[in-house]
Parts: sequence; structure tokens; C-alpha cells
Amino acid sequence: MKKKLLELEKNALKALEIADDPSELEKIRVTYLGKKGQLTSIMKNVGELPKSERPEAGKLANIIKSNISKGFEEARDRIVIGKGDQAAFLDVTLPGREPLRGHLHPITLVIKEMCQIFARMGFTVVKGPNVELDYYNFEALNFPKDHPARDMQDTLYVSENVVLRTHTSNMQVRIMEAQKPPLSVIAPGKVYRRDSDVSHTPMFHQLEGFLVDKDVSFGDLKGTLTSFAHQMFGRGTALRFRPSFFPFTEPSAEVDIQCVLCGGKGCRTCSHTGWLEILGSGMIDPEVFRFVGYDPEVYSGFAFGMGFERIAMLKYGIDDIQLFFKNDMRFLRQF
Ligand code: PHE
Repeated sequence: MKKKLLELEKNALKALEIADDPSELEKIRVTYLGKKGQLTSIMKNVGELPKSERPEAGKLANIIKSNISKGFEEARDRIVIGKGDQAAFLDVTLPGREPLRGHLHPITLVIKEMCQIFARMGFTVVKGPNVELDYYNFEALNFPKDHPARDMQDTLYVSENVVLRTHTSNMQVRIMEAQKPPLSVIAPGKVYRRDSDVSHTPMFHQLEGFLVDKDVSFGDLKGTLTSFAHQMFGRGTALRFRPSFFPFTEPSAEVDIQCVLCGGKGCRTCSHTGWLEILGSGMIDPEVFRFVGYDPEVYSGFAFGMGFERIAMLKYGIDDIQLFFKNDMRFLRQF
């Protein structure tokens, strides 16, 4: 029976290969695969074989059936398409399939919007490495090894001197090292910290901004950030500067905006304070200028850093940061 089956397969495939019109094809189909076809009649005999041989014969017959069916489909495609007779398988009356249209991720939208705001104020956009030397992420920003300020940024280490950058402030050092003032730069990008809950993800996005020139004052920092907040959250949005500490700025300030949800009256989002913290900032510390070879007696500058996710959450009223990275279409479709 095995021999018979293999023979039948060979004949069928050969016939399919040389067939060149639809009616011939149909004849072949009936001969081999039809209800009264050759394969069917051999398969009927499987039941008469000794019990031990039945499974193997049945299996082979099935494989051969599927091989012939495949050969039949190939021959049909070849003949029908070859003759330009597409109507045979293409129903031109069916409505068209609308291609799925994608759109930008909410974080990408906010990155673009914020970069545009600062670009209009004259800032140049730069990008830098996510895998960074300890030197650029910490050391040259005036975080000595073992300094407690490092504890604020739970760091993912690649090796002893290489980290996944914990903030975009590494770009202050990289750019200042390579260029002379005056300069005004923003550096958007991914940053990493070992943290995960409703307000933290191990990877998130920051925007670093800094400006260095002669006679730059804290007033310039305030003016720049106020203009940004007005463009991003609406004219008249109030800002509040609170004294803070960063090793690479002195003085340092954390900046709050008037709560965008309650207008400063106090609500759940702002913990009933009327204010929302959005960024860290300050005047670049003379120590950082020494690391990059600028004369702190001649130059001064300001720097600020903020998280895009935080801004996006406030702008769109989102209460769980994890939503940005779950790829749930019901969430993403809303932007
Ligand atoms: N890099 C700081 C942070 O991630 C923010 C910052 C940037 C503060 C620039 C001051 C100046 O917390």
C-alpha cells in the first residue's frame, strides 16, 4: 500500500505540474482527491490492513493528501494568475480594507512640543548616550564617589565605571567639554533608575536645558522657565521657586507650577497644596565649570532638568505613569 500511495503522489504532482488550464486542473482534482478519486479508494482499504500497519498507512495517506492539495493550490495560482484571470479569485465588489493608521506616542508628542518651545527661544537640541561613564553622570557633576547625593538616584550599573545614565545632566559636561560659551542647549532623552510604582518606571524621559554666557543671572533662569510654563500650560500659570540642593548647581531650586487641574485651589492631584513640582534647576556650580575648563570668574550659567512623563501626566490628566509603557491600545488611541 505504501508503494501504491507514493506512486499516486508522484503521478498526481506530475500531472499538476504540467496542467495549464482550469478545466484540466479540475479533472486532476477529481481523479485524485475527489470523493470517488484514487486517494479516497486507497484510504478506504486501510481498514483491511493488519492492525499494526494501520496507523502508519493512515499517517502516510494524510501526508500525501496534504501534499497533493498544496500542489493543486500552487498549480491553480500559477494558471489563474498566469492567464490574467484574476476575477476567478478576486471579488472586486468587496469593500476595500482600510489600512491601520498609526500615530505618535503621547510621550513623543510632549517631547516634540517642548523641544519646539525651547528651540523657539534659541536652544539647540542635542542627543547623548544612554550608557554613560560614571565620570559624566556623576563625577564631573560634582558627585564624588560615595557622596550621599548619589543615593537620590538609584543607579543601574553596567560595570564599576559605567552606568545607565540616571539623568540627562551628563550632557552638560559633554557639551561644555566640547564647546566654548556662549551656548544654549537642550538635551531630551531616556534615563534609568531602579524604581517602579504608579509614579516611577525604571526607564523614563528627561529634558535637560542649560545656558552659559557672561553675566547670566538667576533672573534669566526664571524668565526662561516662566516663558516655557506659559507656552506649555497656558498664559498666566504661576511659578514658585523653592530652595533645593543639587551638587552641580548653586543656588538650586525646585520649581512648582500652579496646579493645572484646580487652578491653585487645592485638589487630590496637588495634595491640596495648589502647587505641582515639575523640575529641578539652578545656577551651574563653579566646580562643574572647573571640570570642563571654563573660567568661573568669567562665565556663569543656569541649568534645569524635568521629566517628560510628569509633564505629560499633568497636561493630559493621567494618574498612572505605567500606562505610557503598557502599549494598551485603548489608552494610546486617545492621543
Ligand atoms: N538632574 C536633576 C535630576 O534628575 C535635575 C536637574 C537638572 C537639577 C539640572 C538642576 C539642574 O534630578
